[in-house]
Amino acid sequence: MKITKAVIPAAGLGTRVLPATKAMPKEMLPIVDKPSIQYIVEEAVNSGITDILIITNRGKGIIEDHFDKTPLLEEALSRSNKMDLLKSIENIHNMANISYIRQIETKGLGHAVSRAKTFVGDEPFVVMYGDDVIIGDVPATKELIDAYGEFGKGVLGVKKVDAKDIYKYSSLQVENIHDNVYKCTDMIEKPQTDNEVMSLYSVQGRCILPPEIFDILENTKPGAGGEIQLTDAMRELATTVGMTAVEYSGNRYDMGNKLGILKASIDVGLKHNEVKDGLKEYIKELAKTL
Ligand code: UTP
Repeated sequence: MKITKAVIPAAGLGTRVLPATKAMPKEMLPIVDKPSIQYIVEEAVNSGITDILIITNRGKGIIEDHFDKTPLLEEALSRSNKMDLLKSIENIHNMANISYIRQIETKGLGHAVSRAKTFVGDEPFVVMYGDDVIIGDVPATKELIDAYGEFGKGVLGVKKVDAKDIYKYSSLQVENIHDNVYKCTDMIEKPQTDNEVMSLYSVQGRCILPPEIFDILENTKPGAGGEIQLTDAMRELATTVGMTAVEYSGNRYDMGNKLGILKASIDVGLKHNEVKDGLKEYIKELAKTL
């Protein structure tokens, strides 16, 4: 079945980047000249997604404004013949059919995804974590969709993390099938002890889920941190019907983390036509003083 729907949970509190996120959603923090959520929507569109549901909450209305049409601004840019700038904004509102729903209480990623039940209906769908920007030659979501086509099971976008960091993430039991594709048969969210660590592979920002996940989520009790964890619901799929894990090729930037934000700006800046030369010079000079 063709996958055309994506859900972007963007209702987290963003406490790791306070005070920046006191009034500004972390999903709107820019990487050079685009808010991070625009990179995510572009990845979706470049992977064949046509319908997107963004899960928001109080104070995130600015995300809706960003994906709306802005006739006054467009007219002003056109009048002053700023055609490059006009081009950079005029398609933002019609990249995809984007709708919004609020997660009234911040009860965790699993709870946020459960809000998408009506939107999703009876189809497999992509979940794209709203604070994980992935940049690469091939869109990560496309790599996951290809693996769904190959095996017809839920797919996890994974990366290997440092041993010292696995306690902050999920840990997966995996077995290689071929190349960067693995079979996943179990997982745990935020392992507490070395014994609980199944591998250093962790779900990082993307997954494809079958609609059966909604029934599972309804019966998922709060887990790590007292939140309804998506990992706990996906574990049920992994241990019963099995899931596929794909180590996607792009670089992941955690926009909910101060260092992640800085790394994203530097890496994207070094490839951005307008600023790359100046930034390279600046970094070289700066490096001499470090
Ligand atoms: P995070 O745990 O990174 O988001 O969730 P957070 O709660 O904003 O992080 P802190 O406060 O800095 O620790 C991963 C993704 O799930 C969304 C977040 O917006 C983020 O995109 N999320 C999380 C929700 O939509 N709702 C929730 O209740 C929790």
